[in-house]
Amino acid sequence: MKTRKFTRRQVITTTSAGLLGSLLNFSFSPYSIGGSDQLKTLAINGGDKVHKGSWPGWPEWDRSAEQGIIEMFRTGRWWRGGGEHVAEFEKKYAELIGARRCLATASGTTALMTALNVAGVDAGDEVLVSPYTFIASYNVIFAHRALPVFVDSDPATFLMDPKKIEERITERSVAILPVHIYGLPVDMDSVNRVAKKHNLMVVEDACQAWLAEYRGKKTGTLGDLGCFSFQNSKHLPAGEGGAITGNDDDLLDRCNAYHNCGRPYGNMKKGPGNMYNGMNYRMQQSQALILMSQMNRIHKDNDTRLSNALYLDSKLSRIPGIIPYRLAEGATRAVYHLYPFRYISEEFNNIPKEKFIRALNAEGVPCSSGYGKQNHDGLIEEQITSKGYKRLFPESRLKQWREENVLPGNDRLCDEAVTFYQSILLGSKPDMDDIVNAITKIYENRASLV
Ligand SMILES: Cc1ncc(COP(=O)(O)O)c(C=O)c1O
Repeated sequence: MKTRKFTRRQVITTTSAGLLGSLLNFSFSPYSIGGSDQLKTLAINGGDKVHKGSWPGWPEWDRSAEQGIIEMFRTGRWWRGGGEHVAEFEKKYAELIGARRCLATASGTTALMTALNVAGVDAGDEVLVSPYTFIASYNVIFAHRALPVFVDSDPATFLMDPKKIEERITERSVAILPVHIYGLPVDMDSVNRVAKKHNLMVVEDACQAWLAEYRGKKTGTLGDLGCFSFQNSKHLPAGEGGAITGNDDDLLDRCNAYHNCGRPYGNMKKGPGNMYNGMNYRMQQSQALILMSQMNRIHKDNDTRLSNALYLDSKLSRIPGIIPYRLAEGATRAVYHLYPFRYISEEFNNIPKEKFIRALNAEGVPCSSGYGKQNHDGLIEEQITSKGYKRLFPESRLKQWREENVLPGNDRLCDEAVTFYQSILLGSKPDMDDIVNAITKIYENRASLV
């Protein structure tokens, strides 16, 4: 059957008669026309739920990794200094994403800590960062006693709006930290253009973006340094773990030294008295072995996620009030750590997003609300009113920071965003149809939620 094209207006005006499912052209729909009352009634109101089965779990263990891990443990060479596996992983990961070098770290947070240090972020500096992100993206800026300066989000892309970067630059700015949130690539040409003009370093937070692509190149290879997380929920999981990638030997040598207690590395000057600033942020051998086994599946999983995400895009975008993300200019492949869309409550009789989420969860489709308005978190006030920040920044700068901490694009995004976790996208086509059916059912029965 051919899919008919409808304008948004046509969809809105024709759906009230319960025809949305047939317009959407998927295996549908007991809810619209002629289904039993039990099926028509929303699950949150006591009806049957749409999705009765389970969803793929995460992470999935690979038994073929077991022998190598046991052998490594038996040798007693558990740390990177005693074995070869972390270096082996670094080589493979650099090849996987097309970077000249990779340095494995204990976590994504320690990757970011190391990268910011090497990028020259120091006490009293400022770093421009996305507000729509996991807290670690700006905690690492505070840890350097620098000021995170939030650049408003574009609600359509869920990402830092590159047009808004320049207006937030001050003479204290030293770096930009764009976040490829949910595996959606930021418009890096625009970010790099501003960075070059103002002589700023670019550290990509690619902690949710393994193998995402911008103009055909992998995220994590597009700025000065890229940072990844391999925490348990991630597409490449090892419980904990992280990596820094880049193409500049000098920067990567300095990252290596910093993550290894300041021991000089590569071309750095060595010898007595030549120790550098540093921490212990090293990856363990067991993490590297788990990661190498998980690498065997990442291409296939990413292909499945992509195909299901594109399927959802095409179906969900036809439901009034459901707006899937839009890829940023130049982004050529997203990897969906979460699948995001925006919920416009006005199209659903003004039913609040939280109620829509509860109704969708009740239909057997797990979903959640995305990030909150973190630029107003108590953590931020706590930091900038601390005695350290008062010493580092003039009162006038902190006052200006508070006045400028108004992010209408991000506020709107936080109000409207709904997300599905990545393993949902590893489900089957009928699973995806259940998602579309469940949202359609809620739309058609929205009056019963008021
Ligand atoms: C966007 C982002 N940045 C940084 C991090 C920090 O990574 P980790 O949890 O491995 O320290 C995460 C992890 O969830 C993340 O999602």
